[in-house]
Amino acid sequence: MKRVFSGIQPTGEIHIGNYVGAIRNWVHLMEEYDCIFSVVDYHAITIDYEISVLGKRCIETAMILIASGLSPEKCNIFIQSHVPEHTELAWIFNCVTPVGDLERMTQFKEKAKQHRGNINMGLMDYPVLQAADILIYKAGYVPVGEDQIQHIELSREVARKFNARFGRLFPEPEAIMSIAPRILGVDGVSKMSKSMNNYIGLLEDKNIIWEKLRTAVTDVNRVRRSDKGNPDLCNIYTIHRAFSSEDVLLEIDKGCRSAGIGCIDCKKKLFENMMVELDPIRERAIYLRENIDYVHDGIRKGAINCRAIAKKTMEEVREALGLLP
Ligand code: TYM
Repeated sequence: MKRVFSGIQPTGEIHIGNYVGAIRNWVHLMEEYDCIFSVVDYHAITIDYEISVLGKRCIETAMILIASGLSPEKCNIFIQSHVPEHTELAWIFNCVTPVGDLERMTQFKEKAKQHRGNINMGLMDYPVLQAADILIYKAGYVPVGEDQIQHIELSREVARKFNARFGRLFPEPEAIMSIAPRILGVDGVSKMSKSMNNYIGLLEDKNIIWEKLRTAVTDVNRVRRSDKGNPDLCNIYTIHRAFSSEDVLLEIDKGCRSAGIGCIDCKKKLFENMMVELDPIRERAIYLRENIDYVHDGIRKGAINCRAIAKKTMEEVREALGLLP
């Protein structure tokens, strides 16, 4: 069975960009592939963080993955630092990765701007650890949002470089994108993200979600209700695509272009459809918070299974490198 790997950082609230860009895809893939999903805490420490909440955030993130439909019985879910072989392999990959390749990474450049006071080595090395996450399991597929494509490309390059120097051990992993690989934030300008504070949280209070939607930027050229709009230029329509049926999309498209419906009607419909999908997730999250042992047991089992695979790969890697057994 082909193996899939993906990861998510425990850096705060999971938003609908994470959900439609990645997690929802993971739930589908779980049925057909050997899937491994990791809460990547070693990636999260590359920026300043609150020590006292990191552990809680890891559990909360794993809980939301399970609430979203991932099952610890059908796939492996674990916390990255519980399988220390990831960082061991990352060190070895460091020795085949040109510094120039890392300096060119868009996300590194963006984060270096955002965190000027803390441009640490880990921030630059982030994609190498990501390559190790994937390749330690020899995963062939990596379901991610568009912002991670460059990092997956680098993983392929790392695999190529390693294989050329030490013999073919790793596959070149391919990215898999969802139908909504890039969701913009409610500002309608930048990618929805925790750090930009332009997100809609998966578990946020419904009134807050509606308030964020109600005030979200639409097609900026549609100023008055009577103006005709262009759904192709509207972020709300992009989000609709992720949550609404073809029929609704057609209706909205027509209504918007003819000024038959206003932005608020369009947003109300989106809110309704979003909640149809999110309500069961939110209910499961309430249940899981009260039964958190299920999450702890799930990630414990996940770490045990993943560690066994990771150790085996590391034995092969050590041998290939000529390290003393
Ligand atoms: P992270 O935690 O930033 O995001 C988790 C997943 O959500 C996707 N995503 C989005 N998709 C669409 N629209 C958006 N606005 C949006 N925002 C986030 C991301 O593309 C991602 O798939 N580096 C990774 C974590 C990671 C990883 C890995 C992923 C570490 N090791 C190995 C794959 C394989 C990250 O920061 O994800």
